[in-house]
Amino acid sequence: MKRMTFTARATAAMLLALGMTGAMAQDMSAGKAVFSSNCAVCHQAAGQGQDGLAPALTTYPGRYASTEAGRKLLAHVVLNGMVGAIENGGKQYNGNMPNFRALSDAELADVLNYIATGLSGASAGGSQPFTADEVKAGRAQSLTPAEVRRQRADVVREAGL
Ligand code: HEC
Repeated sequence: MKRMTFTARATAAMLLALGMTGAMAQDMSAGKAVFSSNCAVCHQAAGQGQDGLAPALTTYPGRYASTEAGRKLLAHVVLNGMVGAIENGGKQYNGNMPNFRALSDAELADVLNYIATGLSGASAGGSQPFTADEVKAGRAQSLTPAEVRRQRADVVREAGL
């Protein structure tokens, strides 16, 4: 300890940085917990997906999160589920994702942040984090799972995925 030469100012800056890292880690751990208990059974523990069952979440959600239409889509997928044939990363799926509207707005915001930025390979391209209010706004518009899939088709086309 004697060899440490931090000034009080540097120490304060370091503590601030540690505090911020702690807050960010906490947010991701909340989303990770929601993911592990609700999503991993189909999308797998690291969000890598499983052929014939559920698509990977390591690339597309991060891309969706950077546009307004994509963010609405993410909220709608978890609030309303999705059904019908889709392509993700060159693989075909034709599944039926259940809705998770029984989860709270905050839990859904946490899990969307986790899949958009916390999963390996996912990058939200500097987009803002999801908030509970954003999920709440999505709840106001109820879509069928088939309508969510049509919305996805538009977002995927516009994103060039
Ligand atoms: C019972 C299995 C199952 C569970 C549980 C599940 N999903 Fe899905 N998910 C699917 C399937 C199947 C699809 C693709 C639906 C289709 O083919 O139209 C999908 C699609 C998605 C997509 C769109 C991916 C893309 O390529 O556009 C997102 C985002 C997503 N799920 C997130 C979640 C989140 C977050 C949770 C947990 C809150 C979750 N899923 C739980 C089966 C599941």
